[in-house]
Amino acid sequence: MRTQVAIIGAGPAGLLLGQLLHRRGIDNIILERQTADYVLGRIRAGVIEQGTIDLLDEAGVGTRMHDEGLVHEGVLICIDGVRHRIPLKELTGKTLMVYGQTEITKDLMDGRAAAAAPTVYSAHDVAVHDISGNAPRVTYRADGKSHEIVCDYIAGCDGFHGISRKSVPAGAITTYERVYPLGWLGILSDTPPVTDESMYVRHPRGFALCSMRSPTRSRYYVQCSLAEDIDAWPDERFWEEFKPRLDEESRERLIIGPSIEKSIAPLRSFVAEPMRFGRLFLAGDAAHIVPPTGAKGLNLAASDVWYLSRAFIEHYAEHSDAALDHYSARALARVWKAERFSWWITTLLHAISENPFDLKIQLAELDHLFQSKAAAMAFAENYVGLPY
Ligand code: FAD
Ligand code: PHB
Repeated sequence: MRTQVAIIGAGPAGLLLGQLLHRRGIDNIILERQTADYVLGRIRAGVIEQGTIDLLDEAGVGTRMHDEGLVHEGVLICIDGVRHRIPLKELTGKTLMVYGQTEITKDLMDGRAAAAAPTVYSAHDVAVHDISGNAPRVTYRADGKSHEIVCDYIAGCDGFHGISRKSVPAGAITTYERVYPLGWLGILSDTPPVTDESMYVRHPRGFALCSMRSPTRSRYYVQCSLAEDIDAWPDERFWEEFKPRLDEESRERLIIGPSIEKSIAPLRSFVAEPMRFGRLFLAGDAAHIVPPTGAKGLNLAASDVWYLSRAFIEHYAEHSDAALDHYSARALARVWKAERFSWWITTLLHAISENPFDLKIQLAELDHLFQSKAAAMAFAENYVGLPY
């Protein structure tokens, strides 16, 4: 087989890139290790920035998002039982959209199917070859047979555990990492959300997050230890841990129901530099991870795809490699700012340190955030998403 761009991974990064390239007449094949149903079953991001919304529109898959997504003009931060609101729209003119990653993935898959663009699910043993030459190849196994794709470029969109980043020769890539000693235990429940806007909660018992997917579906998280066993968390235990962290109004409004999904996500900051090696380009979680506290992971995958799709379009339409050559530096400039914001808000809202000095600094910083318009503005411009 032959294609222009072979894309590894059918998460949001791979599917969005595939759709944007397809609409510009650039041939691509997506290889995904899992089945489509498995990919759709992963409950992850929920909050998307204007830049991501614009890209989904450009990809021609934004209609359902605009119909069903919830527009948020502010965000709540609850400190030891007292609520504060950051008026994002008033401060920045921008809003956020609450629309689940599962729905985005479904819309992208439907768009790809309608365009009859090829995706190979259950592709096993995907491997990249000759990435430093002019004719890279991707091999894989599917339906019990071995296959090979010869291409111009490979886009590694296969997430943190994928093979793309690991295929770059050691020494050609530098990684930066911080692992936090905690995770998030999340549940999805068909109950009305406890707040109208997302609420981040700092509490002596630990962090909590009240989020949502629709007016009848809640997504809640509590900080937990990394060693936590999900089977040790029946729903009742989750609600017992979650409820006391809330303010009084939320505790009164809270409706408890059975969970329809429950999972634990570790918190990690990670960046691989550069995001290109020869003809292999990394995008999304394959190149970087942020702790979920800033709601930046999916949005960063989208901004990478924006830079990368422009670069491929420029290459094929104008025969210029300038944007491909600048891809890594441009993407990383935005990535590092989102890394900084995600790290900062994580350390600000979680019970991480036992040192009373650190706790006092957390409270002083939060007080400053609520008292100072300049501090609120700095928070807001990062939270709604920095420009591309
Ligand atoms: P992935 O979604 O990981 O997709 C990679 C794909 O590649 C997968 O389908 C995988 O199966 C496939 N793959 C892997 N290895 C191979 C292989 N060898 N061969 C072929 N295919 C392979 N982000 C936000 O912006 N906002 C939020 O509110 C938010 N909340 C989150 C909450 C939680 C609990 C978690 C865990 C994450 C959250 N994120 C959030 C982060 C967001 O989900 C990720 O950043 C996003 O999924 C990255 O997309 P991706 O396409 O780069 O990677
Ligand atoms: C979510 O709705 O899953 C969500 C919202 C905000 C975050 C992380 C996750 O920061």
